[in-house]
Amino acid sequence: MLFSRLALLAGLIRSAVAATPAEWRSQSIYFMLTDRFARTDGSISAECNTGDRLYCGGTWKGIEKKLDYIQGMGFTAVWITPVTGQIPGDTGYGHAYHGYWQQDIYSLNSHYGTADDLKSLASALHKRGMYLMVDVVANHMGFNGAGTDINYKDFHPFNSIADFHSYCEVNDYANQTNVEKCWLGDTTVALADLNTESKSVQKIWYSWIHNLVKDYSIDGLRVDTVRHVQKSFWPAYNKAAGVYCVGEVFENDVDYTCGYQDVMDGILNYPMYYPLLAAFKSTSGSMSDLYNMINTVKSTCKDSTLMGSFIENHDNARFASYTKDISLAKNAAAFTIMADGIPIIYAGQEQHYSGGSDPSNREATWLSGYNENSELYKLIAKANAVRSWAIFKDLNYITYKNYPIYKDENTLAMRKGYNGNQTITVLSNLGENGSEYTLSLPNTGYSAGMKLTEIFTCKNITVDKSGNVPVPMAFGRPRILYPTSLLKGSMVGC
Ligand SMILES: *[C@@H]1O[C@H](CO)[C@@H](O)[C@H](O)[C@H]1NC(C)=O
Ligand SMILES: *[C@@H]1O[C@H](CO)[C@@H](O)[C@H](O)[C@H]1NC(C)=O
Ligand SMILES: *[C@@H]1O[C@H](CO)[C@@H](O)[C@H](O)[C@H]1NC(C)=O
Ligand SMILES: *[C@@H]1O[C@H](CO)[C@@H](O)[C@H](O)[C@H]1NC(C)=O
Repeated sequence: MLFSRLALLAGLIRSAVAATPAEWRSQSIYFMLTDRFARTDGSISAECNTGDRLYCGGTWKGIEKKLDYIQGMGFTAVWITPVTGQIPGDTGYGHAYHGYWQQDIYSLNSHYGTADDLKSLASALHKRGMYLMVDVVANHMGFNGAGTDINYKDFHPFNSIADFHSYCEVNDYANQTNVEKCWLGDTTVALADLNTESKSVQKIWYSWIHNLVKDYSIDGLRVDTVRHVQKSFWPAYNKAAGVYCVGEVFENDVDYTCGYQDVMDGILNYPMYYPLLAAFKSTSGSMSDLYNMINTVKSTCKDSTLMGSFIENHDNARFASYTKDISLAKNAAAFTIMADGIPIIYAGQEQHYSGGSDPSNREATWLSGYNENSELYKLIAKANAVRSWAIFKDLNYITYKNYPIYKDENTLAMRKGYNGNQTITVLSNLGENGSEYTLSLPNTGYSAGMKLTEIFTCKNITVDKSGNVPVPMAFGRPRILYPTSLLKGSMVGC
């Protein structure tokens, strides 16, 4: 098993069930829509037309059977979409296959399996020293119809009009009251907005989240629509959960978004997402904007090392929908894994899936045949391996705050780790037709004469007399440098 040594170590030091923010910091997360990753029958041909927005048959058992595929890329945690009971049947927007339209918080979505199946997934992950992260929604319940037309008896337990804010549409993101008290959704599917200021609603949610985590041995939570609930709701929620929570605040403004890290352990790094996408989605993207955002997030957010680092998810068009260039995709993935925070790779990203906006970006992973030889599968495995190894060699690596050390029009280099233990990641947006050349890289913190290994090519490099590192660049591919002497015994494969 590729990561057995690290997994064993993680297994020995991890607490019985719940995992703390400090324990999550060093993890790497593979995210999937449960309905779209793997089926119990292991089919790689079962039809799944994303445009239909129907259940395609993915299950918790299916995920359990495919853990080798996930762990083979070096992931140590799995994030699954919400598990609660949903709007049954069809709506004007298809089925609730994604899980964000809950109606009964005390039942499980039977399309994904039984309570025993979910427990079995948790225990299979724990046997491997891996973590289970579950997506949860506290902001709303889903209703098949308009917000003016709600049948509150459809909901369990929030079955009274008093449990909800009175109806209005979220339509002014500059007005925080509107964002918190009005309703998402529309006249086809309403997202009935819970009155999270109500003490009785709070009491239900806090005890529910505590029990959910306990009953299914959940190690961490991804929390949906965090900005749509008042901030004062979250600290007690996070505390009742008793595990690391990472919140979705779908907003590029760094001051606004990072404000939520005062009330929750971590947040998804949306402020980084936008300049990261812009830097690599074409060969003319801005390296300066990305360079600056690394510094801005680091100085603005409470702890950049507890944020979720990503370039793809189910709410945004896939990276490859902007460009088919494989080198650009490699750079975006390498940044995601080597920057601060907990890396999150979205199922299908490793297969260079190219679906556009929702629902096109929700392709079934099984249709790829789970190819473990794809370019991005191998790249992700290498990057996760060197990151895990750098953490293993120096536990301080993971709390060290990454910063950019170099930029030119098409290149960005960044450092993470204390002297002697640092990784240097060199990224390029020249694309797969980029030329071969040697970049003389300053400010790496490595000393003259030191031997480094570039982990994708396994080339050994010596730091020159003036302290610059001659980095062999080619075809716009990313580079990761690490001291050769520290690689001994690692699974990086150099
Ligand atoms: C903000 O939104 C709330 C709820 O929709 C509304 O009552 C209020 O008038 C809005 N305030 C402003 C300044 O628009
Ligand atoms: C790279 O060059 C080849 C051959 O000229 C061309 O077909 C391809 O489109 C180029 N790739 C990109 C991403 O520009
Ligand atoms: C790397 O980190 C380890 C663990 O903290 C430390 O013992 C070692 O001295 C560091 N290496 C260098 C070259 O400083
Ligand atoms: C790089 O250096 C290591 C350690 O000295 C050595 O084992 C390895 O064979 C070298 N790699 C190459 C490609 O020369």
